[in-house]
Amino acid sequence: MSAAVQSVVILGTGSYTPKRVLTNAAMAEMVDTSDEWIRTRTGIRERRFASAKETTSHMACTAAAKALEASKLDKSKIDLIIVATMTPDMPFPSTACLVQSQMDLPKIMAFDLQAACSGFVYALSVASNMLESGKFNNALVIGAEKTSGILDFEDRTTCVLFGDGAGAAVLGRSCKNSVGIIRSLSGSDGSNPKFLHQPAGGSAIPASPKSLSDRQHFLKMNGQEIFKQAVRVMTQSSQDILELGGYKSSDIDLVIPHQANMRIIESVAKRLGTPMEKFYNNLEYYGNTSAASVGIALDEALRKGKIQSGDLILLVAFGAGLTWASTLIKWQ
Ligand code: UT7
Repeated sequence: MSAAVQSVVILGTGSYTPKRVLTNAAMAEMVDTSDEWIRTRTGIRERRFASAKETTSHMACTAAAKALEASKLDKSKIDLIIVATMTPDMPFPSTACLVQSQMDLPKIMAFDLQAACSGFVYALSVASNMLESGKFNNALVIGAEKTSGILDFEDRTTCVLFGDGAGAAVLGRSCKNSVGIIRSLSGSDGSNPKFLHQPAGGSAIPASPKSLSDRQHFLKMNGQEIFKQAVRVMTQSSQDILELGGYKSSDIDLVIPHQANMRIIESVAKRLGTPMEKFYNNLEYYGNTSAASVGIALDEALRKGKIQSGDLILLVAFGAGLTWASTLIKWQ
């Protein structure tokens, strides 16, 4: 990086959620559940499900176009695309390559990043490190998911929780050193992969008539274990990044947590000693959109004027793996 360029900033954000709304009442017509159970156990009231034509790349491009517009950057200046997703259009080529082509972006480095629900925050970290190296100038970071394609609508313990959508951010470099991404922190613990996984479709269980009839291509989850781990790692990651940045939890102006379950977010808030008013939440309307959730929430918070210049913002997420990630930003 040249001496004058000292920080990586988010130049613009965008998001997209499909038009089709599925309320809890509609879910209760599909599986043995109720609006009351879903609301009280998760905080979710409705979610958006994509149509057949709305692929992950389509949602990613729509969010990315809005982020580019907000950034006021010409698309020819983008030299890196990272798409965080666990529901790519297809195993290969990457969804990032499809985005490059569909948006007519330059023939630049483009790759997918798989960190499940931590994906957007992981991707921000990777992109900001690449920009800090001085070898890249402007990155398009997207979290996009079509979770509805891997949900088992015979499993009420999982299908009521998730939704579809995409969130995007354009990253660039700033000459001011007092703003931008202060610090990113990511981690993983792969010792219990079955707590949250999609068993089939990879090399362990290739697609076969048996894998299909055994319903192995759907998302499986041990909800209680994931709940406990989520509270622990989101709290720890938040505390660690604050300490590394030299801040206290009382310094935070806004937390944008992964939108999985309101009870998880409340537990993290309590442990951090940060009031719930400082958390931006929208899971009520979208459910858990996995890698898209933090990107969608960040874009909404910005467009609603919840983020002002000089604010200290904490993004924090967890996901299958187990993965976790946090980012501290001083808004420019
Ligand atoms: O991005 C990461 C994604 N995953 C998560 O964040 C999930 C983390 N875990 C959770 O959010 C919660 O564990 C759940 C929302 C999944 C479940 O909530 P819980 O309070 O842990 O419920 P539970 O698993 O202990 O189940 C309680 C009861 C059970 O019935 P019995 O055995 O007490 O008779 C379940 O069968 O609720 C039943 N149940 C349901 N009832 C109505 C489970 N799912 C449903 C449902 N509707 N959809």
